[in-house]
Amino acid sequence: MDKFVIQGGRRLAGTVHVSGAKNASLALMPATILAPGRYALSNTPVLRDVATMSRLLESIGCTTEHDDHLLKIDSSHVTIFEAPYEHVKKMRASVYVLGPLLGRYGRARVSLPGGCAWGPRPVNLHIEGMRRLGADVELDGGYIVAKAKRLKGARILFDVSSVGATGNVLMAAVLAKGTTVMENAAMEPEITALAGFLVSMGAKIHGIGSSTIEIEGVDELHPADAATIPDRIEAGTFLVAGALAGAQDKTVRVERCNPRHLGAILNKLEDAGARLTCGEDFVEIQPPEIIRPVNVTTAVYSGFPTDMQAQWMALMSLASGTSIITDTIYFDRFTHVPELNRLGANITIKENVATVIGRKELTGAKVMSTDLRASASLILAGLAARGTTEVLRVYHIDRGYERIEVKLRGLGADIKRMSGEEF
Ligand code: UD1
Repeated sequence: MDKFVIQGGRRLAGTVHVSGAKNASLALMPATILAPGRYALSNTPVLRDVATMSRLLESIGCTTEHDDHLLKIDSSHVTIFEAPYEHVKKMRASVYVLGPLLGRYGRARVSLPGGCAWGPRPVNLHIEGMRRLGADVELDGGYIVAKAKRLKGARILFDVSSVGATGNVLMAAVLAKGTTVMENAAMEPEITALAGFLVSMGAKIHGIGSSTIEIEGVDELHPADAATIPDRIEAGTFLVAGALAGAQDKTVRVERCNPRHLGAILNKLEDAGARLTCGEDFVEIQPPEIIRPVNVTTAVYSGFPTDMQAQWMALMSLASGTSIITDTIYFDRFTHVPELNRLGANITIKENVATVIGRKELTGAKVMSTDLRASASLILAGLAARGTTEVLRVYHIDRGYERIEVKLRGLGADIKRMSGEEF
């Protein structure tokens, strides 16, 4: 297992390029099951989670080849309709094969994901969605076992807006007989990207990007190519790095991003005192002279993303006052808090609300990351801390950030990856 060793205090400046969005790739890849054939997905990030999805697709009969961000998938010979536990336990997004397998082949056996580092992660909405589309769904031996001759269009109103359930129902409903109307559907850009991809494969979808999506089922789809949208969470993470550790008289330029997907994050950065310049595909940030405390409450898109909550907390740890950070999407996504406190932060938690009393400085320490975004927050804090920070178990970061240490070194950070069993 690798670790990162960071010498804090280097002031960052320069340009960093954003990779393709992990969460968009993880939705586009299983969609290729829906129409047997060959696909080329460009701008696909080289990440552990993408590799896990590739292995899962291979295990059901696809071939994949990922070379220089071009991911080729051949889904012509899908013969196995199962996502086994060994894949799903590594990555919950494996459940995304449920909808397309059921929609295209009328059956699917998908392991239940279980919990994750910060608590239970239910899939009841995915199951309910499939049932509403007419599937016979049972839970058996830790697996979702679903069957249907042909799915039928239905009206589906989600109690909670869920990215994964919306994506799964979309992929199932495009080949159903009749029209499906999904209400309280997720509006995240990654879902919009998936819907756009399905349309390019011949699907009929209306209301893309809104909370009511209407899908007219078609008999058949065809393969298509796609370019993966930029990763808004990676972009947001680099912008926070610029706010936290940027050189005062210089800028950190985050390029190949989509500023339109970053609205809530950009607003909060401005509230914190950062100066921003946005173009079509870049944002430049000049750090605040004094980081102002800014409260954040996570929400579904276009609100502040839960996937940026931990990074925001790292920034607020050095603010000039007290801020309140509330996570309404995942109530217990706070495993980074004790680790940030080991770096000198002053954060207390009550239920899903963190109170962050800003400190003048953080000091380097050994810290352990327990999930992807928690790791990102610890790296950010380490960049700003005095002295040496070691972030252990960086395999979490490799799930969702492509060569983050190389990109940060390009901005002038002193961060090294060290390999070794003991980390
Ligand atoms: C996706 C993202 C993840 C992000 C999350 C919220 C991917 C691969 N992952 O995860 O990075 O943090 O959106 O933006 O795209 N829920 C239920 N029942 C369900 C499903 C979800 O109650 O069947 C609840 C969850 O517990 C959570 C909320 O709905 O409170 C939102 O979760 P959801 O949008 O489904 O997250 P994911 O799709 O798993």
